[in-house]
Amino acid sequence: MVVKKDADDIKKAVLDDEVVSEEVKVPAKKKVAKKKIEEEEVEPTLVDLPGIGPAAVAKLEAAGIYDLMSLAVLPVATLSDGAGVSEAVARKAIQAARTMMKLDFVDGMEFAKKRANVTYITTGSKNVDSLLGGRGIESKAITEAFGAFGSGKTQMALSLAVNAQLSVEQGGAAGKAVYIDTEGTFRPDRIKQMAEGIGANPEMVLKNILVARAFNSDHQILLLDKISELVKNGEPIKLVIVDSLTAHFRSEYSGRGQLADRQQKLNRYMHNLMKLAETSNVAIYVTNQVMSNPAQMFGDPTTAIGGNIVGHASTYRMYLRRAKQGSRVAKLIDSPDMPDGEAVYFVTTAGIKDKA
Ligand code: GTP
Ligand code: MG
Repeated sequence: MVVKKDADDIKKAVLDDEVVSEEVKVPAKKKVAKKKIEEEEVEPTLVDLPGIGPAAVAKLEAAGIYDLMSLAVLPVATLSDGAGVSEAVARKAIQAARTMMKLDFVDGMEFAKKRANVTYITTGSKNVDSLLGGRGIESKAITEAFGAFGSGKTQMALSLAVNAQLSVEQGGAAGKAVYIDTEGTFRPDRIKQMAEGIGANPEMVLKNILVARAFNSDHQILLLDKISELVKNGEPIKLVIVDSLTAHFRSEYSGRGQLADRQQKLNRYMHNLMKLAETSNVAIYVTNQVMSNPAQMFGDPTTAIGGNIVGHASTYRMYLRRAKQGSRVAKLIDSPDMPDGEAVYFVTTAGIKDKA
């Protein structure tokens, strides 16, 4: 299912490939992906479940369940059907997962501790980082960028994929990025330019980006399971990009009367993304197109595809647009803990920056 786009693009790793975890070599001052700064909380996995043997784990994984959270929230019937196990076994497994996941109320201190291992990835622009709270996009959250074609959504995605590999001191998460490309716009050459822009080895940077072309919305959905699996197998993935989040859904469900189906599917996808963000402690960046909204008389008459479904599920929502003298503006919309505001940035050869 996953293809390499053309022979010239062989440098990019593909999700299905064995990925070589090599460090990116950069000059002493700018270390990239050097060390793992944050002590990850060790989360129990399926094999830790009492009374569940390797055979049962294999059945769960075959049904697309790789972590305890996915298991804990499943209805018994869904699990027994999906994994081909008896209802009694399914109930036992789900109960055990719920107990282990401590799906209860936690006090404020516990909650703060959970937030403590959140990681951040700089966009490359201090202005945009500030808009998002100071350090860029964050893990356990979905950041959505929407805007017209050419507004810089993909350029920001590419920049983030490079910057994710920077050390924590340098504004990265010292990890790999996954790029789900629905439109064939991933450009290895641009990644190389941006890698050079931060003084990193372009080939190494490309190796740390796992690219998969999603051919339709079902494939796009399927790839999320693959990411959970990679994380579970120890791939240090810190960023997941979906570019574009909505294009397939939009074209496949374009008929009259299909809107409800599309929204329902998108809704489920957003929830799966959020679950991935939280269970794997990864940052998620999604891009979204706009459609013109003739009902709006003043200002920019554009609305994001997927409407409230996508909007409410995204933790941070930025509207990107072109502005004067080659500049671009990012506007934060309806953030839970940030004032709405705007930031000016530029798309440069070296990536997203404050200045041209
Ligand atoms: P759609 O996917 O079509 O909806 O658009 P998008 O928002 O993803 O746009 P994208 O991020 O691809 O932005 C494309 C724009 O980025 C171009 O029109 C250029 O203005 C700018 N750009 C792309 N590559 C470069 C580059 O190498 N140098 C500079 N300076 N600008 C670039
Ligand atoms: Mg794009």
